[in-house]
Amino acid sequence: MKSISTYHRALVLLFIYDIASTARCQSVQAPAVPPAIAAAPTPAPPPPLNITAILQKAGQFTTLIRLLKSTQLDERINAQLNNSNAGLTLFAPSDNAFSSLQPGTLNKLTNQQHVTLLQFHVIPTLITLSQFQTVSNPLSTQAGDSGDGHYPLNVTTAGTQVNISTGLVNTTVTGTVYSDSQLAVYQVDKVLLPLGIFRPTVPAPPAKAEKNASAPSEGPSLTTLDSAGVSSGVEWESLLAFPFAVSVSLFVMEFLNPLGSLFEVEN
Ligand SMILES: *[C@@H]1O[C@H](CO)[C@@H](O)[C@H](O)[C@H]1NC(C)=O
Ligand SMILES: *[C@@H]1O[C@H](CO)[C@@H](O)[C@H](O)[C@H]1NC(C)=O
Ligand SMILES: *[C@@H]1O[C@H](CO)[C@@H](O)[C@H](O)[C@H]1NC(C)=O
Ligand SMILES: *[C@@H]1O[C@H](CO)[C@@H](O)[C@H](O)[C@H]1NC(C)=O
Ligand SMILES: *[C@@H]1O[C@H](CO)[C@@H](O)[C@H](O)[C@H]1NC(C)=O
Ligand SMILES: *[C@@H]1O[C@H](CO)[C@@H](O)[C@H](O)[C@H]1NC(C)=O
Repeated sequence: MKSISTYHRALVLLFIYDIASTARCQSVQAPAVPPAIAAAPTPAPPPPLNITAILQKAGQFTTLIRLLKSTQLDERINAQLNNSNAGLTLFAPSDNAFSSLQPGTLNKLTNQQHVTLLQFHVIPTLITLSQFQTVSNPLSTQAGDSGDGHYPLNVTTAGTQVNISTGLVNTTVTGTVYSDSQLAVYQVDKVLLPLGIFRPTVPAPPAKAEKNASAPSEGPSLTTLDSAGVSSGVEWESLLAFPFAVSVSLFVMEFLNPLGSLFEVEN
């Protein structure tokens, strides 16, 4: 009997101790609870990104902005940013980049080529500066087919330097205009000219009188440059220069044309 009552007393003591410590716990926790609740207001969703506003703020992309608007790619990019989780990377040619193009380069392009040229500057994923070190070439741009002779865009890096090559243009990322978890905008000081639009197609030199179907069609001048290097540099340049001169002269007028003709792209 004695042992039982001792046992009961022990139980009662335990019970009281338990209640007391629970209460102590609650009284310790109690002050922490209201602030925790009060400190969690529903986070406001971030405002949708606006590529035009971002470029405008940076101040040296007026030509790019004009092109984005005339092709309505600005709206498409904004919608993409709002609707996709993959993010987006834009190589933004500065006004200097556009003004150092051969005169008329843009004006000789069709409306669709304007769209494609801009899409070539857009990668439909977010690539941070450090991720450039591990991306595999060629990058996939929104211009599509990244195969040789079409829309390949290659990057090489050394430290923080990011070099870009299109096969026609070599340039370097000169600054980060904007960067968050969804969008990266990098300044480039050359327009990235894709082979798919600007590659010299039928070489003009009289030596090549007729196209032979069995002749290499994948830009023989490029292949020659790769394998022969410096020795063929002069020939390479002249092959490039001729079509550029022709295309440039055709270009200016269409570009100075206001938006009217460009809207046809969307039809
Ligand atoms: C984006 O920004 C530009 C320039 O500030 C403005 O004109 C345009 O209305 C904005 N677009 C949207 C969808 O807010
Ligand atoms: C962004 O996407 C959300 C949800 O998909 C949609 O409700 C909203 O209207 C979109 N905003 C814009 C500016 O497109
Ligand atoms: C990048 O380009 C610069 C200038 O053309 C060149 O000096 C440098 O070696 C290049 N770096 C890489 C990693 O390609
Ligand atoms: C890009 O890189 C790929 C793979 O290294 C190579 O095959 C291709 O020739 C390169 N193209 C250009 C334009 O540099
Ligand atoms: C771009 O750089 C590559 C590798 O350095 C070189 O072979 C090629 O001639 C350059 N192309 C132009 C258009 O400068
Ligand atoms: C094209 O090349 C093939 C093989 O080299 C030759 O048989 C053919 O006659 C050539 N055609 C022309 C039009 O030169």
